[in-house]
Amino acid sequence: MTTLPIGLFDSGVGGLTVLKAMRSSLPCEEILYLGDTARLPYGTKSQETIVRYAVQAAGKLVERGVKMLVIACNTASAVAIEPLQQAFPNIPVLGVVKPGAAASCAATENGSIVVLATESTIRGNAYQREIYALKPDAQVTGVPCPLFVALAEEGWTNGELVEGIVARYLDPLFASPLDTAQQKAPDTIVLGCTHFPLLAASIRNVVGDSVHIVDSAETTALAVKKVLQENNLVRHEETCGRTKFLTTDDVSRFARTGSLFLGLPIEIDDVELVDL
Ligand code: DGL
Repeated sequence: MTTLPIGLFDSGVGGLTVLKAMRSSLPCEEILYLGDTARLPYGTKSQETIVRYAVQAAGKLVERGVKMLVIACNTASAVAIEPLQQAFPNIPVLGVVKPGAAASCAATENGSIVVLATESTIRGNAYQREIYALKPDAQVTGVPCPLFVALAEEGWTNGELVEGIVARYLDPLFASPLDTAQQKAPDTIVLGCTHFPLLAASIRNVVGDSVHIVDSAETTALAVKKVLQENNLVRHEETCGRTKFLTTDDVSRFARTGSLFLGLPIEIDDVELVDL
């Protein structure tokens, strides 16, 4: 069991930001990544559709043999974690929402947290629920930012145009924030979508240096390590673990756009086309 790969899936290439963090904190682990690019985006779909897609994607990884499932997609984590845990009871299933919520609670000083995510993630209230569970006096505001997904996929992550779009979403909360005893000005942003870390510098330019920006990828990687240790699933080989990629659509597009998210070139030979 310990030598099996960790299965990681996302609606597309965005989850490679989580893979990148896992590669540096778990260099010995083998990883099998599935990007369901044919059905991207999940973030605008109904709850029923997201659950169906997520169970099919995870099922493909389990069929190949994985020792743990990591849901790198915030939308699927927000909506489908329980159905996935029920569908695959024999292996640990971890999502990115809980670690991201915990990191935002650790970062905030005044308890006022803004969650930036897809429409479905915000609608499902999962981040809000997890934050309130850890910090009942928190003030949480969810902002759906669907255009950020397209910008990141296009590689448009900085410049005047991008910052203009960021400001359009965030100015109502950050341009002249109310700061009263009842309503604190937000001091923390959680990037509740796989794509948003690519826009972090532009978000920083718009909101200024005083706001904490939390990326759930790093904390998820640490949470994965903890789960592996607790379940005696750590791979003890000396050699570095390999990464293999599965995609449900065009292999060369996956390799090309995926390289932007991973920050490293992805070889086409390491990517396999699969049907779910
Ligand atoms: N991976 C999704 C997420 O983290 C973003 C892209 C999509 O909408 O499918 O929410």
